[in-house]
Amino acid sequence: MTKKVIIDVDTGIDDALGILLALNSPELDVVCITTVSGNLGVEEVTRNTLQVLELANSEKIPVAKGMNSPLSPDKKEEEIIIVNGKKVNGGEYFHGKNGLGDYKLPQPKTRPVKDHAVDFLIDKIRSNPHEITLITTAPLTNVGKAVMEDPKIARLVDEHIMMGGAYGLTPYGYGNVTPVSEFNVWADPIAANKVFSSKLSTIAVGLDVTQDPSVALTEDCLDHFTQETELNAFISSLISFHIKRGQGAAYPHDPIAVSAAIDREIFEIKDFLVKIETEGTIARGQTVVEKRPEAFVTMRGEVKTPNARICCGIDGGKFMNLFLNRLSKMG
Ligand code: BDR
Ligand code: CA
Repeated sequence: MTKKVIIDVDTGIDDALGILLALNSPELDVVCITTVSGNLGVEEVTRNTLQVLELANSEKIPVAKGMNSPLSPDKKEEEIIIVNGKKVNGGEYFHGKNGLGDYKLPQPKTRPVKDHAVDFLIDKIRSNPHEITLITTAPLTNVGKAVMEDPKIARLVDEHIMMGGAYGLTPYGYGNVTPVSEFNVWADPIAANKVFSSKLSTIAVGLDVTQDPSVALTEDCLDHFTQETELNAFISSLISFHIKRGQGAAYPHDPIAVSAAIDREIFEIKDFLVKIETEGTIARGQTVVEKRPEAFVTMRGEVKTPNARICCGIDGGKFMNLFLNRLSKMG
C-alpha cells in the first residue's frame, strides 16, 4: 500500500536528495512539503524546495513555509567553522552559499501556499487521521510547535521518521556540531524535547547509522549519473560538492531517513527512552539514551518507558542499491 507522506525540510544538499528519492519511490505519495530554517534561513530553503520540485516536474505538490527561528535560543556562533584560517558558516560551507552546492537553478515560478507550515501540518494530519507518515529531515521547530498547539495530532500521525540525534549506539553515533550533538537536534533542542515528550510514534534515524562508512558516497558513485539530463547533472553536482566538502566522503543523512519509510528491512531498530539536553554549555542538543539495566533505574524510582525507536544498525548495501538505482533512473 502507498504511504501518504509529509516531508519537513531545510533544503540543503541531502534534503534535496531525500526529496528526489521520495518522489521517485512508488511506495510513497508525497502529500505536501513543509519548510523550516536550518541549513539556511526559511526563505532560502523554501526557494530551494520549490526549485527542486520544479526540476523534478512535481511542482503540483504544495509547499508551506514555516518557522524562521527556533523555539530555543539561537546559538549561531557554534555554527562557525574555520576553513583555511577563515571563519565560515558551517551550513554554507557544507551545502554551498545557495544551499544546493552552488548549482544554479532558475528562480521558481511556483509559490508556497498561503498557510503557515505549522497550520498546514495540523490541517493535513487532522484531515488524514492515522494515514500520514511524517518524515523530518530538519530541526524540529515546525513539528514541536504543531504538537504544542494541538497535542492531539501526535496520536493521529501514523509514524514520525526523523533524521536527527547521535545516540552512541554504534561506533559512528558521535556528534557533528559538538562532540555529542547532531545538527537537527542541536539547532532546536527545545523543539526536539517537545517531540520526544509527545505521543508521536517516533523512529529516529541518527548519526549512528547515517555516519556508518558503508553508506558514505564516494567519487565512484558519480558513475551512476552520466545521463545527459538536467536532473542527472543536478544530482551529480550535489553529490560531488558534498564529497569535496566532506573530504572524500558524503553522508546522505536525509535520504537515509526517507529510505526508512520505503524499506524498513534496511535498519535494525530498538526501543529506548531518550532525553534531550535542552540547555547545556557543552552538550546542547545531546540525545541521552537510557541504557542502564531496568533494575538499576527502577530501584531509584525512575521510569524507563521507551519514547522512541532508534536505528542502531544499517544494511549499507541495501540502502546504496535503493538510493543509486532510484536516483539514477530519474529524468
Ligand atoms: C543533518 O544536518 C543537516 O545539515 C543535514 O541536512 C541533515 O539533515 C545532518 O546532521
Ligand atoms: Ca536537512
